[in-house]
Amino acid sequence: MTTIASHTAEPEVDAVRHHYEVGNEFYRLLLGPSMMYSGGYWERGEGLVGALDVAQERKLDVFADLAHAAGKNRVLDIGCGWGTFVHRLTTKHGVREAVGLTLSRTQAAYIADLGNPAITTRVESWSEHHAPGAYDAAFCVNALEHFVPSSLPPKERTKRYRFFFQQVHEALVPDGRFVLHTMTAEAQPIGRKILADLKFLQRSEFTGMHIPHLHELAAGSEGLFEVVELVNEREAFARACRAWLARLAKRRDEAVALENEEVVARFERYLDIFAYTLEDRFFNNFRLTLTRKG
Ligand SMILES: C[S@@+](CC[C@H](N)C(=O)[O-])C[C@H]1O[C@@H](n2cnc3c(N)ncnc32)[C@H](O)[C@@H]1O
Repeated sequence: MTTIASHTAEPEVDAVRHHYEVGNEFYRLLLGPSMMYSGGYWERGEGLVGALDVAQERKLDVFADLAHAAGKNRVLDIGCGWGTFVHRLTTKHGVREAVGLTLSRTQAAYIADLGNPAITTRVESWSEHHAPGAYDAAFCVNALEHFVPSSLPPKERTKRYRFFFQQVHEALVPDGRFVLHTMTAEAQPIGRKILADLKFLQRSEFTGMHIPHLHELAAGSEGLFEVVELVNEREAFARACRAWLARLAKRRDEAVALENEEVVARFERYLDIFAYTLEDRFFNNFRLTLTRKG
């Protein structure tokens, strides 16, 4: 396993680290052994907490299949979290090298401890990762939500999403597949409670976060990728949030001892907001399977 640190000058870096550099022990308590921080694929009748890990593994295997990743030389995971996916790709799907990008130094340290020589972790933003034609397949699983600041006017945001898709297009081989999982926001009237909750998300927990609109993704990817499949999986993400909340409730005292009351309360609030906004169809969570054109 190789870890590469690079200088990343974006203003979002501090906001991302505020959330993702809470201790790894705390995240392990919250997320469980799978250490996945995105939706899972539960099957009918499976227990919420009991099947969390299997639901996560199932999701990763579906993603690997959709990207035709099995046996490939090199794949990219943009916003790789604690490395579970890059680890699984190289140990279960025969991928020779998996490169993970993250801004979190504590996540990179966690991945280094996995001791997997087929993983390269780069503490680097997607916007600075230039690797023309280097990858046979690419993934981005619930990370795009952090990539474009809400402070940008709509036109500039569209340009930034365009730049993101251009970067992935450039990094892939011709016909390479890109599987993107991301929340999207519906344009709909906002009540007082949801407004307060969105303010908390955007101003306190994930400063400057912009959850994209589907049309921004369509404009960003137009002409660069062919859409193979588009599936709304908002329930899969809401379920994961509920499972993490249940884990946290069960071991709350330990969580407070690992961090403190303020951190635990922040997580409880933000997870509940994501769970109910996904359940109420305010946010969606789309899985897009794309093939590089040209
Ligand atoms: C919600 S986590 C998802 C992690 C993982 N994909 C999963 O599903 O468990 C978001 C990830 O995006 C990363 N991230 C945020 N902004 C980034 C950026 N500009 N460049 C690269 N990674 C970024 C964070 O460090 C974190 O690893």
